[in-house]
Amino acid sequence: MTIRSVLTGTGSALPKRAVSNAEMAQMVDTSDEWIVERTGIRNRYIAGEGETTSTLATEAARKALIAAGLDAAKIDLIVLATATPDQTFPATATIVQHALGCNGGIAFDVSAVCSGFLYALGVADSMLRTGMAKRALVIGAETFSRILDWDDRTTCVLFGDGAGAVVLEARDSDEADAPGILATRLHADGAHACLLYVDGGPSTTGTVGKVRMKGREVFRHAVTNLADVLREVLDDTGLTADQIDWVVPHQANARILDATARKLDLPPEKVVITVDQHANTSAASVPLALDTAIRDGRIQPGHMVMLEAMGGGFTWGASLIRI
Ligand code: UT7
Repeated sequence: MTIRSVLTGTGSALPKRAVSNAEMAQMVDTSDEWIVERTGIRNRYIAGEGETTSTLATEAARKALIAAGLDAAKIDLIVLATATPDQTFPATATIVQHALGCNGGIAFDVSAVCSGFLYALGVADSMLRTGMAKRALVIGAETFSRILDWDDRTTCVLFGDGAGAVVLEARDSDEADAPGILATRLHADGAHACLLYVDGGPSTTGTVGKVRMKGREVFRHAVTNLADVLREVLDDTGLTADQIDWVVPHQANARILDATARKLDLPPEKVVITVDQHANTSAASVPLALDTAIRDGRIQPGHMVMLEAMGGGFTWGASLIRI
């Protein structure tokens, strides 16, 4: 008997306040033209008072449970990816668990920054396939605005806040074309930690710190690493790029998405793009984009969907799912 983790519902949540590039240009020396041309970003959402990583995560999780037709009490595993937890501890996953009222199962956070959702998905998939749990919520949620240096135009225009969630259910899947996660590959290379990091932390400065990034170098590594990991997942599954219906990438920069798709000969119309509306929401970006494309009807049951992300660490990964 083969157990597969089947995606049965998705949900997402955004803060109330939308912030345009024009508004950003009133805060720092930038322009709508520069941001659109270099990144594709036109808008981002910024959390206000009372909106936290856990409140956004809980809203996204509730919507995913409704889409799956599942009562929260049935969830026995929550894996939440974030670099901006409500508190250093407890894990934000436990706060979400309590808010949903499904106390007693497993709940923990995963820290892999922009690749966090891919890491969380890989961990949850492994736990479902080994029988440690039956029904999981995998969440990516961030309030990155709270760790941005609002005087640094090279970073503050790039990021936004939000959350996305998926429900995964362990199902017997002996048929070859059964839905579920087919393959996941994850990587990290700590040699590049200095290119994208936060300049604080509980054990070093005793402060939360702010995001620092050498954007151009990150860009270069991102295109190479993402193309390589996508090829690995295709090799694992014996599929070719033309058999992929949709690519749902981490939404950091429209130019990275174009360059990666070109390297693999993937037509741009197969790439789901939300960076224009959400900006870079770190661990939330892949599930936010996935939920968007499922709800607007682009992604349909039976479709082959490739998720991919790259972020601080560096960390990167990809996962192929039959919906
Ligand atoms: O999510 C994790 C992964 N993160 C990423 O993948 C981000 C990857 N990197 C990028 O997306 C791009 O490198 C950026 C969007 C961050 C920057 O784009 P770029 O084309 O690499 O620009 P650059 O850093 O080479 O900067 C070009 C110029 C500089 O001016 P000089 O030195 O040429 O005079 C910057 O000072 O643009 C200037 N600049 C800005 N100008 C207006 C930098 N930020 C801004 C800004 N507004 N916000």
